[in-house]
Amino acid sequence: MKKIKLGIIGGGGDSLIGILHRIAARMWDRYEITGGVFNPDFELNKKYAQQFGVDLSRVYPDFDTFVALESQKPKDQKIEVVSVLTPNALHFPMAKKLLENKFHVICEKPLTTNHKDAIELERLQKKNGTVFAVTYTYTGYPIVRHMKHLLSQGHLGKVQKVDIQYYQGWINSVIHDPEKRKGVWRLNPKVAGISSCIGDIGTHAFHMLEYLTGLEVTELLADLNTLYDHNPLDVDGTVLIRLNNNAKGVIRTSQIASGEENNLSVAIYGQKGAFKWEQENPNLLYQLSDSEPRKVIKPGNTYCSDFANDGTKLPAGHPEGIFDAMGNIYKGVAKAISEQKYFDGEFPTLYQGKRGILFIEKVVESHKEGNIWKSL
Ligand SMILES: NC(=O)c1ccc[n+]([C@@H]2O[C@H](COP(=O)([O-])OP(=O)(O)OC[C@H]3O[C@@H](n4cnc5c(N)ncnc54)[C@H](O)[C@@H]3O)[C@@H](O)[C@H]2O)c1
Repeated sequence: MKKIKLGIIGGGGDSLIGILHRIAARMWDRYEITGGVFNPDFELNKKYAQQFGVDLSRVYPDFDTFVALESQKPKDQKIEVVSVLTPNALHFPMAKKLLENKFHVICEKPLTTNHKDAIELERLQKKNGTVFAVTYTYTGYPIVRHMKHLLSQGHLGKVQKVDIQYYQGWINSVIHDPEKRKGVWRLNPKVAGISSCIGDIGTHAFHMLEYLTGLEVTELLADLNTLYDHNPLDVDGTVLIRLNNNAKGVIRTSQIASGEENNLSVAIYGQKGAFKWEQENPNLLYQLSDSEPRKVIKPGNTYCSDFANDGTKLPAGHPEGIFDAMGNIYKGVAKAISEQKYFDGEFPTLYQGKRGILFIEKVVESHKEGNIWKSL
């Protein structure tokens, strides 16, 4: 099968997320990394590109040159899809220009820094019919997909309570020192947008909740914490939520939960039982019941759904990790670009990215207006 030509913007060797995308893109042999702008410094950009084995003639000094020169190439040579892996504030202008020039887009979360811009991206995408994914990585785990499948089959009955937590601790080592804070773009509103904690990890928790249950959050009430008055963005937040099936729940997030790593934990309670799952042990899905002992469900088994097993590469007992999760999202995007059939939920869509930034906006409004209920 012909490989899809992938361009990457950001994600240089100095970045956190670049390596995850580069390896994920190669995982199912569906893409070739053809070119990009990995870093705004052209010399560093070329240096990284050499390390990744990218043809230097397709490595451009900046984003505008990338779009201008790639757009002129004949169809069979042109980069088809572009991953936007830059800090948040650049997502909108870059994704917009890519859509205007008819590229498919894979964009990091949060999609934009305000809801209005997300609506504009949606308008452009609908006009072009291009494929657009937002990389909420954690929904690519096979067992998460199986949990979604079981919930959609009514395995738990009506969902009546949700509790999604994403706790990190790494900001604890920078937040107390204003000098150290300056080196962290996630704490800078000009780069991160209106939120740090909710924007960076709360948005994962929110997406996971709507993705798994198929429900939508209709109202929320938030209480955020910046820890210091002279720190402009939240580093911790708790959000009460109401869902469109009348269930209630809570999204709990923190970047100052000292010692926590990437503790994304999901608990969904229904009339007939519950599911519990933790990102740090992603191959174990626990099913709880009022009448039976707790069950452990694992990926790669014949009892798993086709959707889950489509994202499993080896027989059961070979653990899936974060690279596999992102690889599965890239695989879904490849199917969509190639006009192959794909599963509902195989990659997070622009609509879901738009929901994510609406959530961030409403959380910040709720907190600022005195912890009041807000409708989404
Ligand atoms: N899906 C996830 O789980 C996940 C995890 C981490 C980060 N992210 C998201 O990924 C994005 C990047 O985060 P990060 O932690 O990798 O940031 P980072 O600061 O570590 O890396 C950003 C990269 O973008 C490059 N860059 C900046 N401006 C550029 C420009 N104009 N042109 C080309 N390259 C440019 C930088 O040189 C660097 O290589 C953020 O939006 C973040 O929210 C998502």
